[in-house]
Formats: sequence, structure tokens, C-alpha cells
Amino acid sequence: MKTVFQSPVEPGFVQDPYPFYDKARAYGDLVYWEDYNKIAAVSHRAVQVLLKDRRFGREVPAELQGPGPAHLAPWLNVEAHSLLEAEPPRHTRLRALVMRAFTSRAIATLEPSIRDLSHSLIDRFPDTPFDLLDAFCTQVPVITICRLLGVPEEMSPDLLRWSHAMVAMYQASRTRETEDTAATAAREFSAFLSNYIEQRRTDPQDDLITRLITAEEDGKKLSHDELVATCILLLNAGHEATVHSLGNGVKTVLQLGIDPRDHAIDGLVEEILRYDPPLHMFTRYAYEEVDLFGHTFKRGDEVALLLGAANRDPSVWAEPNRFDPSRPIVTNTSFGGGLHFCVGAPLARLEMRIALTALFERCPNLRLSADPEYSNSYHFHGLTRLMVHV
Ligand code: HEM
Repeated sequence: MKTVFQSPVEPGFVQDPYPFYDKARAYGDLVYWEDYNKIAAVSHRAVQVLLKDRRFGREVPAELQGPGPAHLAPWLNVEAHSLLEAEPPRHTRLRALVMRAFTSRAIATLEPSIRDLSHSLIDRFPDTPFDLLDAFCTQVPVITICRLLGVPEEMSPDLLRWSHAMVAMYQASRTRETEDTAATAAREFSAFLSNYIEQRRTDPQDDLITRLITAEEDGKKLSHDELVATCILLLNAGHEATVHSLGNGVKTVLQLGIDPRDHAIDGLVEEILRYDPPLHMFTRYAYEEVDLFGHTFKRGDEVALLLGAANRDPSVWAEPNRFDPSRPIVTNTSFGGGLHFCVGAPLARLEMRIALTALFERCPNLRLSADPEYSNSYHFHGLTRLMVHV
């Protein structure tokens, strides 16, 4: 297997990781990424096979689990009860509870609320240059997930602050300060939700938090820690990636001078997700010895799945480095696959379709007013700001 070298914090890579992915993919399905000290899957077929192979999973194998450092305890406690970090049977139980609220039919009923929200945000755009990420791309998903869960929209600034601090833990540039900030955020977020859940016990509504509280009260389905961790996961995952899918997509459309009204919205959304996804790497542990793509994985080995590399595989997409919203839709890997396939994919796609349609219809003269930059936070791939004028 070929060894590749690439610092994940090197500025050129952060701004454009795709040339590295092309180089790595040319070496084969798997490469050894020296800087991460991990094997990485870089072809579409390798990423797909590993996402679906049940001999691999996200939960840390028992012999590798430890108590973790004391200063991280609040953050680790949330992680320990999150469905994203679990495998069956725990994952099956937690995911089934959440999935009821995330069926395509349930999500479709949110359409009028997302449309009204998008238009009311556009009504407030100023005449002078402004940050579209802050004024629009962030607000649509964060307010929508608050409404779906049943958390007050006024909490969104706190939710954003807690969420950013917590997900920063996955970044390549993590420091002790990142860890302390994440632990504080996890403590505050958990305390807010515990209090809010207490209040809501006597005030049932037609929302996801009520259904989760009922499941907790049953006693068998959901523990209190799992209830809090599930709410945190949904609130965080419910906006972080969608914000940057919208931001990356608007940036690409404006930079390439594409008139989005020339293309069907479904094709535009899928091409945005394929071409420049917001999440580039997820990892899996091997649970037994497995031979794949000429390599023998041992139990406990970790492998990185590079979603952004899989999406540019020329064996699946012709001229993959060209942004073409009219190309036939082939399901990309941006939402993962297998057991952990993104719960929120139908919601994210709906938000993107509605928000982008409203934005490009209402603001046909939308232009960049400064060069956008990606933040130095690999494996997240999103802009620091998106300065535009309308
Ligand atoms: C464009 C936006 C989004 C992208 C690109 C995205 C991407 C992903 C990916 C790649 C995974 C799987 C991780 C893995 O396999 O290791 C995932 C899982 C998940 N996502 Fe999303 N996501 C998005 C939006 C959302 C939204 C709106 C929600 C709503 C609540 C959400 C909730 C979740 C949850 C709960 C999981 C964990 C599923 C499990 O472990 O079974 N995501 N997402």
C-alpha cells in the first residue's frame, strides 16, 4: 500500500483538498495517510464497502475503551450515550426512536415553515455587503431543527455556541483549549436540556422532544443520559453540515457564474453535495480480522473514510472535478451509508432545495463581495464567512 503525506492543517490543502484526493486515489482504493497514522479509503467503492461492512463500526472496541481524561468528562459523557457512537443493539434502539420523526413524509410537512423562514430572512437582507453564512445559511437549519425538536428558537445563539465548541473536538487542529471549551459547552448544554426536559414533562406538544420524553418515561427505551445526548446530537448534527452545504454551494455557483435558474433544483442540490461536501472524513474500527482491497485489517485497526475523495471518483462521475448541476444524479457519499446513514438527509435536502430556490429567485443579482475562505478545521469543510451583496 502506498504511503501519502499531507498535513491536514496546511493552508493550501484546507482551501482545496481535492488535488490530494486525486493523487491518493491514483495509488489505489486504500492508502496509508502518514500524518493521521491511519489507512484511508479514497475510492468510491472502498468507501461504500467499508460504510456497509458490519465487521467495521463506529463504537470503540471494548479493549480500547478507557475512562478518558477527567477534564473531558462532560463531553465524553455525551459521546458515550450518542447513537452516532453506538453499534447494535444500542444503536438500533436509539435510532428507531429518532427515525419516527425523520421519515420523508414527516419531513415533507415542514416545507411551508422552511419556505416562510427563508423568505423572512431574505426580507431582512441589507443593501450593503453582508455575511450570507450568518444571515441565511446558518439561520435556516438552526431554526428548523429547533422547531422540529421543540426547543425555543431564542435559544439558537446558545445552541450555536455550544455546538461549535463541541464539534471542534473532531478537528485536526484540536488543542487543550479546544478540549476545555468543549467540556464547558457539553456541561452547559446538558444542564440546559435537563432543565428544559423537566419543564416540558408537564407540557406535551406535537414535537420530537415530547416523543423522546415519553420514551424515557417508559423506562425501557431511553435513559435520561441517552435522552439528553440524543437531543444534543440532533441539535448539533441538525445544522452544522447543512449550514456549510448551503455556504459551499452558493460560493461555487457565484464563483463559476452559473445561473442556478437554468438547472433543476434537485440536480443542483445533489451536485453541490457531491462536489464540495461539508464533512470529509469519518472513521471506523475493525471488529475482526478482515481482508479487503489487498490489505488485512486486524481487530481494533482504525480506517478513515474520505467522503470528499469518494465523491470525485472518475470511475463513477465523468469529469468529476467539473461542477455540473445537469449531470445525471448518482447517489454520492456525502450522507454516509450503511447503519449510520444520515438520519437528517431528507431534511437537509429539503432545506437546501427550499432555501436555494428562494435565495436565487429573490436575489438574481447576488454577487460575492470578498473572496471566501475555508476555515482551518479539517475534516469539516466550510467557509469562515460568505460576504455578498444583492
Ligand atoms: C447536508 C447536511 C448533512 C450532511 C452532509 C450530513 C452527513 C452525515 C454523515 C456523513 C453521517 C454519517 C457518519 C458516519 O457514517 O460515520 C451523518 C449521521 C447523522 N446525521 Fe447527518 N448530515 C447532514 C444533515 C443532518 C441533519 C439536518 C440532521 C438532523 C437532525 C442530521 C442528523 C444526523 C444523525 C442523527 C446522524 C447519526 C446517525 C447514526 O449514527 O445512525 N444530519 N450525517
